[in-house]
Amino acid sequence: MTIYKVKNYDEMSKKAADIVAAQVVLKPECVLGLATGSTPEGMYAELAKKCDNKDVDFSKVKSANLDEYVGIDRTNDQSYYYYMNKHLFSKINIDKANTNIPDGMTNDPEAECANYDKKIADMGGVDLQVLGMGLNGHIGFNEPDTYFPKGTHCVKLTQSTIDANARFFASIDDVPKSAYTMGIGTIMSAKKILLLVNGAKKAEILKAALTGPITPDVPASILQLHNDVIVVADEEALSAM
Ligand code: GLP
Repeated sequence: MTIYKVKNYDEMSKKAADIVAAQVVLKPECVLGLATGSTPEGMYAELAKKCDNKDVDFSKVKSANLDEYVGIDRTNDQSYYYYMNKHLFSKINIDKANTNIPDGMTNDPEAECANYDKKIADMGGVDLQVLGMGLNGHIGFNEPDTYFPKGTHCVKLTQSTIDANARFFASIDDVPKSAYTMGIGTIMSAKKILLLVNGAKKAEILKAALTGPITPDVPASILQLHNDVIVVADEEALSAM
């Protein structure tokens, strides 16, 4: 595991964008695993600049997002589909037909989840998976549990995650109570993982994830078992280490 300690959010975003850009330059037809939340927003803005400057060409890139809320339509500005278009896909030259996000409105959750894993496998697997981390150590929407879920599945969100995500919604009652997420197995099968963490609020959980026991109670702790993880975190997030 390589850990880059950077000064602040801006530096984290630039460093992360450099890593993603390097992946695309090295393998133009690569598969990027993408994350949502506030953490990667700055990185996406940096990638958009790189594309504008013709430093990176996303035309052959494919992508698979980690997760999507259940019951939220793609046109809803709180859907992760909407988020990805707003922050990245509308700003780079990626072919939208090559982007994948679980369908939160599916009538057949089981088929949707199985099909999502198949789509990822058919693309040859994820080359570089970008991850943020929740306040309770969740990755994607894999919440603390008694086991590590393998494939894409539907998950009931914890109160901590609902509270944390309430800031994006008009009221806490509007926050969906469940989501579809790549499983821990799906995430761990990525060839390379890029974990981004910023802010003092995540210092204790980041320390637990990187140096504590590997336990489904801290889902991100499983990253200790992956052989190619890059962590880019700011001084505040690394302040407990
Ligand atoms: C959400 C997403 C995660 C994200 C996490 C942290 O729950 N499903 O993929 O990493 O929140 O969000 P933020 O970056 O806003 O702290």
